[in-house]
Amino acid sequence: MSQAVSPTPDLRTQASPDAAPWWRQAVVYQVYPRSFADTDGNGLGDIAGITSRADYLDELGVDAVWLSPFYPSALADGGYDVADYRDVDPKLGTLADFDEMVATLHARGIRVVVDIVPNHTSDLHEWFQEALLAEPGSPARERYIFREGTGPDGSLPPSDWVSAFGGPAWERVPDGQWYLHHFAVEQPDLNWSNPEVRADFVQTLRFWSDRGVDGFRIDVAHMLTKDLAEVLPSQAELDAMPRDGQHPTIDRDDVHEVYAEWRTVFDSYDPPRTAVAEAWVDRVRVPLYARSESLGQAFNFDLLEADFDASQFREIVTANLELAGASGSSSTWVLSNHDVVRHATRYGLPDAERGADGRPSRKHGQEWLLSGGREPELDRERGERRARAATLFVLGLPGSAYLYQGEELGLHEVAEIEDGQRQDPTFFRSPGFDLGRDGCRVPLPWEASGPSFGFGSGEAHLPQPEWMGEYAVDRQIDDRESTLTLYRRALAVRTDIQASESLDWIETGRADVLRFARPNGWQVVTNFGDEPYVLDAAGSSVVLASDPNASPDLVPPASTVWLAP
Ligand code: GLC
Repeated sequence: MSQAVSPTPDLRTQASPDAAPWWRQAVVYQVYPRSFADTDGNGLGDIAGITSRADYLDELGVDAVWLSPFYPSALADGGYDVADYRDVDPKLGTLADFDEMVATLHARGIRVVVDIVPNHTSDLHEWFQEALLAEPGSPARERYIFREGTGPDGSLPPSDWVSAFGGPAWERVPDGQWYLHHFAVEQPDLNWSNPEVRADFVQTLRFWSDRGVDGFRIDVAHMLTKDLAEVLPSQAELDAMPRDGQHPTIDRDDVHEVYAEWRTVFDSYDPPRTAVAEAWVDRVRVPLYARSESLGQAFNFDLLEADFDASQFREIVTANLELAGASGSSSTWVLSNHDVVRHATRYGLPDAERGADGRPSRKHGQEWLLSGGREPELDRERGERRARAATLFVLGLPGSAYLYQGEELGLHEVAEIEDGQRQDPTFFRSPGFDLGRDGCRVPLPWEASGPSFGFGSGEAHLPQPEWMGEYAVDRQIDDRESTLTLYRRALAVRTDIQASESLDWIETGRADVLRFARPNGWQVVTNFGDEPYVLDAAGSSVVLASDPNASPDLVPPASTVWLAP
């Protein structure tokens, strides 16, 4: 086994021991490893590909990289079906490659966060294979959630529950029992009442922490623990139950017992390992995950559901800063990730249709994808303008920003994927309703021409349309007005803004313009509207603007400026 690597002391944003911990206002860049850079020409990105692009990440100026799963996997769910939690997928490299990547990133001051998937394993995990061969009621089956069926001969599932990707949440095995899978059939849910499951994940956290990993992103953090009665409620009953910590399957209070144990593991390292919860829970319950006794930070996904709209943005910022105050953590900001339509595209489409609760009635952009990316027409340029403005707004906020690979290029969602080339289980399990998430997972264009636009030497695992070449890194890197340059400049000057974690709103006299000041006098002004905004910022200088025509007197439509005192 190769040498474990520990974090180097001169990591970016590592200040004096009593200064705020590094993660509170970090910029974390999400790498979807299979689509980042391919060094061996097999069409899949790999760990060595990340290492080979360390200078790019360094020059971009990110504080940390979060890697979506890179573990052995049959890719039934893009790697979120993990067959072995303590290894690297041979298609992506080796543990030695991983150690080299960590050392290379650490040497540049970039921390490494890995994704832990504790709600379910892959069906190819040795535990599940063992469970299939074992008897009903055996210890091997007790690691998962097996049940007898219903109906006279048990041929009906234990309940009518629906999986998150569509279709039934129970699957039958040859001896007649059924197992629970809240996601794909290939992702059996683990039984978190079983101490063996708990102990094994502690080992996994230690395994990666010992290798120098700085933090963890916890997948589906709100679903691990379950309280399943003998007679199961129906899906409708489940949906009607309050989400008050006692719900049978979602956001149970007792999940924090798991995280309290993990916390002792994280804190046994110096510096303590960090964690961020992917918890799709009611807002008021987010602080439970973000508390320092639990995972320490939680994603705020509100902006993924918002339109490019001043009042929505303001409400989200205010509410989330309050929530951060309640947990003692910092807020997080996310505009794009591997599960949603890219924000340049969302903002170029008509606003999301909303239900009575004000939330989008379905994932924004799905109708457009289903129409083949044509109807209603995507306004690419408008989407990109707004995306740049939204990004600068978010990067000026207190808290940490999570960026998704490719957004720094202004990339759009790829709609041009034939059914036969799709990979996402959502597509297969909800035919005709949801095309899934492949369009934001298409490999990155590094070069304007050549095989797979510089992603690798062969064809990429998802098709890259011609237009991607225009967004290539080599097209943008020396262009002073490119989106990539904007991100690089923003990250370079951002550290000056992040003096303390608060802001004050300044009235603008316009409902579609937001302006806030940070305690050290830096200001951010975003014009969400279609008319220019006349700004009175005499005495301030525009340090950065998402539109080159901005000045201390004028903020063009759909743009943001940063002002220094
Ligand atoms: C999370 C991941 C998503 C995955 C699901 C099941 O929501 O972000 O990509 O499909 O969990 O693991």
